[in-house]
Amino acid sequence: MPIEKTLSIIKPDATKRNLTGLINAKFEKSGLKIIAQKRLQLTRSMAEKFYEVHKDRPFYNDLIDFMISGPVVVQVLQGENAVKLNRIIMGATNPEEAEEGTIRNEFAESIEANSVHGSDSLENANAEITFFFANIELI
Ligand code: CMP
Repeated sequence: MPIEKTLSIIKPDATKRNLTGLINAKFEKSGLKIIAQKRLQLTRSMAEKFYEVHKDRPFYNDLIDFMISGPVVVQVLQGENAVKLNRIIMGATNPEEAEEGTIRNEFAESIEANSVHGSDSLENANAEITFFFANIELI
């Protein structure tokens, strides 16, 4: 199976509740390596640019307000089939639909405050990693 990299964000609802370590443990238990990680306060313009693909969606403005409401932890996860595997570990976007044992099932508060973001394709993963990290930061 191919070794891939994917971009993960631990969102403000999770950093506020001190869940970074518990979430990271789930990635590591499932075989994903955290090969880069930093805690950031996103600016409005960074969040708007990152989520530009959703700019015409009704939830866009609320999503941006939420993503800048506190610190986030951005990270690069590496492993076999990392993009798909991370989406399984996260669970469905809506926590009410997320399977037991997934991050969103255990920790998410709502579809907006859903604790984590993960790239949805290898192509988007590469673009999202480049958005936050230089190559020399991926160890
Ligand atoms: P994320 O994977 O970060 O990508 C876009 C985010 O928009 C998504 O997770 C959700 O947290 C948020 N969002 C808020 N409302 C909705 C909605 N109705 N449908 C999909 N995503 C939503």
